[in-house]
Amino acid sequence: MNDIEAILARHSVRNYKPDRIEEDKVKLLRERIEELNKEGNLHLQLIEDVGATYNRLLNRAMGLGSAPSVIACVGKESDDLDERVGYYGEQLVLYAQKLGLNTCWTGTFSRKNTAAEIGDGERLVICIAIGYGKDQGKQHKSKRIEQVSECAGERPDWFALGVEMALLAPTAINQQKFVIRLDQDGNIEYINNGGALGLVDLGIVKCHFEIGTGKLHLA
Ligand SMILES: Cc1cc2nc3c(=O)[nH]c(=O)nc-3n(C[C@H](O)[C@H](O)[C@H](O)COP(=O)(O)O)c2cc1C
Repeated sequence: MNDIEAILARHSVRNYKPDRIEEDKVKLLRERIEELNKEGNLHLQLIEDVGATYNRLLNRAMGLGSAPSVIACVGKESDDLDERVGYYGEQLVLYAQKLGLNTCWTGTFSRKNTAAEIGDGERLVICIAIGYGKDQGKQHKSKRIEQVSECAGERPDWFALGVEMALLAPTAINQQKFVIRLDQDGNIEYINNGGALGLVDLGIVKCHFEIGTGKLHLA
């Protein structure tokens, strides 16, 4: 599965089989996490036994209580922490997709019941449910390219492909409140018009856009 195929195949999955992730895949995930943590200066953690992370009523109502494992997205507090969590976390989500696993980003979860290591000055930003889905999820409704992108003059093909991939990105409550702007000098600007989780969304969107334009290649 190539990177674009992984983007096309990924949908949020909220109902999971009870199967645990096999040891060899856990090892691969942990190795990838280590690399992404180095690159992104983060402290992402795979927690094999999800415990009571998803015991909140809202999670259980959505089916997320069935997720066997979780990735806790932790990092040292800084202005760009949320965006970096989105950017590197989504690379992990797409890597998991290539391994045949399913995921769901979750802003709603029980902080006190998540067995994450949170060091001094660190913050648990968000969690990602992970495991084998009972289904593969479904394509979300999407805005149009013109609603989320701006560009001086005609939209070049490479830019359009990037935006198309960005429109396939997961965003909190499917808000897609971002704008990607291309200026006359070829510079790209990412704008967040969403709420707090909008910055995580923005990092995720950036990951998808860069895969679409060929700037970013996944492991
Ligand atoms: C930052 C973020 C937070 C999210 N929080 C939740 C959540 O708490 N519960 C949930 O069921 N889905 C959550 N989602 C999943 C979104 O609802 C989903 O990505 C969106 O509806 C688009 O669907 P797709 O991921 O299948 O493309 C979240 C997604 C993102 C990116």
